[in-house]
Amino acid sequence: DHQSAVSGKIAIGVIGGSGLYSLFDGDAVEVDPETPFGATSSPITIGTMAGRPVAFLTRHGREHSLAPHRINHRANVWALGSLGVTAILSSSAVGGLHPDYGPGTFVVTDQLIDRTWGRADTFFDGGEIQHLGFADPFDPRLRQAAIAALADLGVPARPTGTCVVIQGPRFSTRAESRWYRSAGGHTVNMTMTPEVPLAAELGIGTVNVSYVTDADAGLENDDEAVSQEIVMERLAAANRTIVAVIESTIARVPDDFVGRELVPREASARVLAMPVGA
Ligand code: ADE
Repeated sequence: DHQSAVSGKIAIGVIGGSGLYSLFDGDAVEVDPETPFGATSSPITIGTMAGRPVAFLTRHGREHSLAPHRINHRANVWALGSLGVTAILSSSAVGGLHPDYGPGTFVVTDQLIDRTWGRADTFFDGGEIQHLGFADPFDPRLRQAAIAALADLGVPARPTGTCVVIQGPRFSTRAESRWYRSAGGHTVNMTMTPEVPLAAELGIGTVNVSYVTDADAGLENDDEAVSQEIVMERLAAANRTIVAVIESTIARVPDDFVGRELVPREASARVLAMPVGA
C-alpha cells in the first residue's frame, strides 16, 4: 500500500498546475483514490521530497486534458485530505497585471478575487451549512516557508499578491485586464478557486506559489498579449526552478503542521469521513 513507499505520515500535498506533470526523481507509488465526489484529475503519486513523504496530483490531468471549469476540485482536495494531508502547496501559472509582477516573477499569493461561476465550490452544500472564514485565504506559516524558499534560491519573487481568478477558458480582454488591475489585482489565473476555499473547509492549509508567465492582455510595456503557446513555453523553460522552489518550500514546512481551523474541526472531519460510492 502507499505507506510502504514512504516512511512517515503523509502531511504535505502538492497540486501541480499547467506544465508540472511529475515531481519525484526517486521511487514513487501511484494511487487512484475513489472519492464521494467522483474522480480526481489524475492518479496521486506518493514519493519523498526533501526527506518528507509527499502526495502529488496534477490539477489538469497528466495530458493536460481538463479545462479549468472541468476540474473536479472537490475530488482532488478530498482525496488529498483522506491521505492525511494537512498542508497543500499549490503551484500555478498566472498572468501579471501589474508592472511589479512581470513575466518570470514568482508570487506567494496572499489574496484572491473570485470571478469564477458554476463550479462545485463547497463541501457543505446541503444538510450541514458552514460559512467559511476566508479573510486570509492562505496559511500564514506555509506562506512564510515559501517566501523563505524563494529568498534562499535568489529568484525574482514577490512575497504578496492579489490574484483575480477568472472563469476561462479564454483569456481576458484588454478592458477586463485593465479593470482587474484597477480592482487591486496583481496576477490573474483560472483555477485558484475553488481549490483553496475547499481545502480550507477541510482544515487543510494552503500556500500558492505562482509563476508569472505573461503580461495578460499586454498592457505593460507593449508586451505581447498572452497566448496558450506563450504560457506553455515559459513554463517549460522554468520547470526546474519551479520544482526547486517546491522542494525548498517542503523542506521548510513546520514539523508539527496541522493546518488551520477555519470551520469547526468536527465539521471538516465529518466531510472527510463521507463514504465513497454511497
Ligand atoms: N494563466 C497563465 N497566464 C494567464 C492569464 N494571463 N490569464 C489567466 N490565466 C493565466
